[in-house]
Amino acid sequence: MEAPKPGATAEGFSPIRWSGDELLLLDQTLLPEQEVWLTCSRPRDVAGAIRRLSVRGAPAIGVAAAYGLVLGAGDFDAAYNLLLPTRPTAVNLRWALEQGRALRDRCIEAGEADELRARLLAWARDLHRQDVEANRRIGRFGRELFEQGDRVLTHCNAGALATAGYGTAIGVVEAAWSAGRLASVWVDETRPLLQGSRLTTWELSRLEIPHRLITDNSAGAIIARGWVQKIVVGADRIAANGDVANKVGTYPVAVLAARHGVPFYVAAPLSTIDRDTVSGADIPIEERDADEVVHAFGKRIAPQDTEALNLAFDVTPAELVAALITDAGVLRPPYGESIVAAFSERGGSGH
Ligand code: MRU
Repeated sequence: MEAPKPGATAEGFSPIRWSGDELLLLDQTLLPEQEVWLTCSRPRDVAGAIRRLSVRGAPAIGVAAAYGLVLGAGDFDAAYNLLLPTRPTAVNLRWALEQGRALRDRCIEAGEADELRARLLAWARDLHRQDVEANRRIGRFGRELFEQGDRVLTHCNAGALATAGYGTAIGVVEAAWSAGRLASVWVDETRPLLQGSRLTTWELSRLEIPHRLITDNSAGAIIARGWVQKIVVGADRIAANGDVANKVGTYPVAVLAARHGVPFYVAAPLSTIDRDTVSGADIPIEERDADEVVHAFGKRIAPQDTEALNLAFDVTPAELVAALITDAGVLRPPYGESIVAAFSERGGSGH
């Protein structure tokens, strides 16, 4: 089968595609050198792809897991239990799996178990489409915060690759750029897995948005020189009080932003807000294999017996966040209140 071309879907570029009876994922571990699409025909293939970060970014993980349930419709609980623990911080994963399980329960209650797979597929496709729509709304709301000539800094990758399409933080960047409100983007390389240097630069090149890559530890120097007017990042989970878990290294950027009076924005759909998590202290932080830290560029960079700690995420307290740019609008502090208001206007669930 011919590999799908990026940009070939109705939604624009998406790293996730359903084709026939299979899920296709653009393998993000191989970018930017190679654009290879993985074929997943079993839930276990999807779970492996999520764990390895072949598909990554909270919203993309949620949508991929939804298709994973379609592949596992014959043994639904096994698929659910396989997918749930793959990435503990990204709440979109649990959010999508719980929706899928509720749909399964409704199907069984209605005596329509035979239709489960078709129902799950229609739902997963809908989730895919809704995520792209949510991101476009985030982009439209977010661009209003920018002014002509702004240089923005971002950390990790919260672009189309990290979602079902268009992106959250990079969706805002794209919308601000298209509106003539942005000069350029500073991209943190994002050690240890280099989502910034491998993925965000790949996306910004395709979008033809001017950008420069910096090492993570350059952010302070760049901000202190007055070369950054805005910061925008994504989120893996936002607690009910507005505390934000995102890729490790986000918190120091937020502290620098506060020190230098630069607005620090977080762009995320309501599906990333977890009202069951009271504060950042309650967010489970994924710890990944220390090998990712002691290796770089395919070779070992620390002595054999070096112990390393590999926290995948950190928590930025709500007080450092100037606004949450969501698909329901720009939320301002106090987030406990603005989050409740956004959900009640939306009528309950994430999208
Ligand atoms: O470990 P990753 O690459 O999945 O981490 C991704 C991030 O931290 C993103 O900023 C977040 O998931 C938001 S993606 C729209």
